[in-house]
Amino acid sequence: MARKGIILAGGSGTRLYPLTLATSKQLMPVYDKPMIYYPLATLMDAGIREVLVITTPRDNEAFKNLLGDGKKWGMRIEYKVQEKPNGLAEAFIIGEEFIGNDNVVLILGDNLFYGESLKEILERSNARTEESTIFGYHVDDPRRYGVVEIDESGKAVSIEEKPEEPKSEYAVPGLYFYTNDVVRIAKTITPSERGELEITSVNEEYMKAKKLHVEKLGRGIAWFDTGTHDALIETTQFVQTIEKRQGMQICCPDEIAFENGWISSEELKQLAEPFMKTNYGKFLKRLADGEI
Ligand code: TTP
Repeated sequence: MARKGIILAGGSGTRLYPLTLATSKQLMPVYDKPMIYYPLATLMDAGIREVLVITTPRDNEAFKNLLGDGKKWGMRIEYKVQEKPNGLAEAFIIGEEFIGNDNVVLILGDNLFYGESLKEILERSNARTEESTIFGYHVDDPRRYGVVEIDESGKAVSIEEKPEEPKSEYAVPGLYFYTNDVVRIAKTITPSERGELEITSVNEEYMKAKKLHVEKLGRGIAWFDTGTHDALIETTQFVQTIEKRQGMQICCPDEIAFENGWISSEELKQLAEPFMKTNYGKFLKRLADGEI
């Protein structure tokens, strides 16, 4: 069974005002790429080739201009609108037709994941088709996050939003692998006090059925969410440091499409062409020429 991917790139971005008064948070630069490239790269690393991008009505056209129909990367990218920020779980209602009978992975458009062992973890989560998978990331101050408590078999036993007294030090990042019944579950949950269809409510249903696995992301993996001015600049600095030091790109959709065998070296060369004034383009050219 194939797995489809959803990038949730709507929201209101109020913590980034005035940057986001007229444009989407997920179009903001993170060093040398628009923010949405990073979650897209993560889906591609998981081997996901069909992606739905959900945006606000205002920004839908801009994302279409940026990513197109995905053909240039050997993918299929579709678009839908979320009328209002009604919560993360609404993604599965909006995406019902797109998901069809497949399993699905949801990634938030402002989350960045990077690390050597990540691809392996993503592939393992993708292959777990009979139950759902969320992730646990050790953080300094769990009280600021959704916190998951994990039993010895790796199953989630509780998830609490911004708890005063956290039961673990593992925060839940914005990346969720679900079995197909997530569509049905999303339709049954009721909005929270803040009026949103909460992803935690979805996760609670899987927890009750003992079907929510937690993959711990170890200290070799970087996870950022870029929702504040400081987080945005810190993430940018992280990407800049690695890319400048290594002379390579991270979370680069063109590269991953090529590595996955979805496009040829000839096609990669053509993608590089208009970018040759940038290190991004030069990197793609070297890759296509077999120099990396
Ligand atoms: P948040 O950062 O929680 O919310 P936001 O982006 O609206 O920003 P702010 O708090 O500054 O107002 O959202 C996390 C991610 O999920 C982000 O990429 C936007 C997206 N999102 C939606 O697309 N739809 C929604 O209904 C919600 C709640 C979030």
